[in-house]
Amino acid sequence: MLSTKQVNPSEFKVAIFGLGFVGLPLALSYALRGCDVVGVDVDQNLIDQLNQGITHHLEKYHDTPIQEVLAEQLKSGRFKATSNAREALSQCNYFVMTVGIPVVNGSHDFSHIESCARTIAAGLKKGDLVLVRSTLVPGMTRGFVKPILEETGLVAGEHFYLGYSSERIAEGKAFDEFENMPTLISGINEASGEKARQLMSVVTKADLHVASAIEVVEAAKVMENISRDVNIAMVNEFARFCEGLGIDIFEVIKMANTHKRVKLLTPGPGVGGYCIPNALHYLAPKADELGVPLRLLRTARRINEDVPAFVVSLVARNLPVPAKDAKVAVLGIAMKDYSSDDRLSPAMDVIKLMEMSGIRVSAFDPAVPSNYAFKVDSLDEAVQDAHAVLVLAKQNGIGYTNYKLFHNLMSKAGTPVIVDTKNLYNRSEVEEHGFTFVSI
Ligand SMILES: NC(=O)c1ccc[n+]([C@@H]2O[C@H](COP(=O)([O-])OP(=O)(O)OC[C@H]3O[C@@H](n4cnc5c(N)ncnc54)[C@H](O)[C@@H]3O)[C@@H](O)[C@H]2O)c1
Repeated sequence: MLSTKQVNPSEFKVAIFGLGFVGLPLALSYALRGCDVVGVDVDQNLIDQLNQGITHHLEKYHDTPIQEVLAEQLKSGRFKATSNAREALSQCNYFVMTVGIPVVNGSHDFSHIESCARTIAAGLKKGDLVLVRSTLVPGMTRGFVKPILEETGLVAGEHFYLGYSSERIAEGKAFDEFENMPTLISGINEASGEKARQLMSVVTKADLHVASAIEVVEAAKVMENISRDVNIAMVNEFARFCEGLGIDIFEVIKMANTHKRVKLLTPGPGVGGYCIPNALHYLAPKADELGVPLRLLRTARRINEDVPAFVVSLVARNLPVPAKDAKVAVLGIAMKDYSSDDRLSPAMDVIKLMEMSGIRVSAFDPAVPSNYAFKVDSLDEAVQDAHAVLVLAKQNGIGYTNYKLFHNLMSKAGTPVIVDTKNLYNRSEVEEHGFTFVSI
């Protein structure tokens, strides 16, 4: 760990490539510290919205919503969003890559990383820093990004600086975690590591750990995510065991976690989002190359992928009418609680499987902006004529315990059911209100 040297933010002209869940709050974090920041994205619609101060993100900088931060930083001129990378490259010396590697059915799409690296290469100057913050297949900064940047004739570590720093934020806590999460850094050489550390220290007040090689940081990031996947797979198995034994898994976890060296995560409707479900797929290509089978990790992934089917069977078993005649009101479709992100959300799998089994679905989630045929705009619409309420994510603004409304609007065919995958309800309270209660 290097000591923190004082830096002068106004000397940093920063271009952030990718203005998604990571890039936008990161760009604003630099602008808030007094840096001149240009945010670059290939999505012109997103750029137009951001320049009008519009974002669906739910981040807060202390108590200030990201929408207000965005408006202030646009007004101050410290932040602007553009699809014109050339302009950003000529104005800035610090380039941060935050574009992703989508994985579809186990296949990687490296095109975003490649096009971003090529875009930066087109305007790369001597003395610039390129800092990759995307989650990568370990080895990619050196083996994939560097060769593209060096097609310019400039050499990493000699003519320009090249570093990698894994991104560890959780959506919803981005501003706080950019500042307070201990962060890993490495450079292609020592000077690159130091240059990256200087840029990082503008925003990050927590410890900055400089690793001996970029691959160490790349691998640590992927393994951090996989460790959560495996932990969740384990508690999903514990949940089935506790169900069989007739005890409450959430109470078991609470009790077990009083042990100072035990940290069980919680079961739920599956594991969603961009990071954890993709993590194994980021390790696997390199592991295949190295002949490492990853037996436990692959099994854990399969266990988590099977949870949505288990949730659907739980719902179907407890419906008061046959599946083909049933309607289920899904509350919360985000990939995790209090998020607007529905990428790789287990709720999507649960809904798809319910629809395949003939169940009609109405889903309500006021935080998620995406439109789907099954999505409705109010709790009333969701529960109208439903036989079951299925909670898949917690969100502000959903009346999860509006039992009176449920009774008024839900189907009168049999006892209405509440299926809780988020440990949101108190069993006896739900049963006292006349519902069948089912918990994951
Ligand atoms: N979302 C998280 O909580 C989180 C946390 C830690 C790490 N990460 C990692 O950070 C990276 C970004 O994740 P995200 O959630 O912000 O993704 P995102 O999809 O929200 O944002 C990526 C953005 O990059 C843009 N983009 C694609 N190609 C581009 C190019 N060539 N030039 C400029 N912009 C381009 C896209 O239009 C999109 O707006 C990923 O590698 C992810 O694994 C994400």
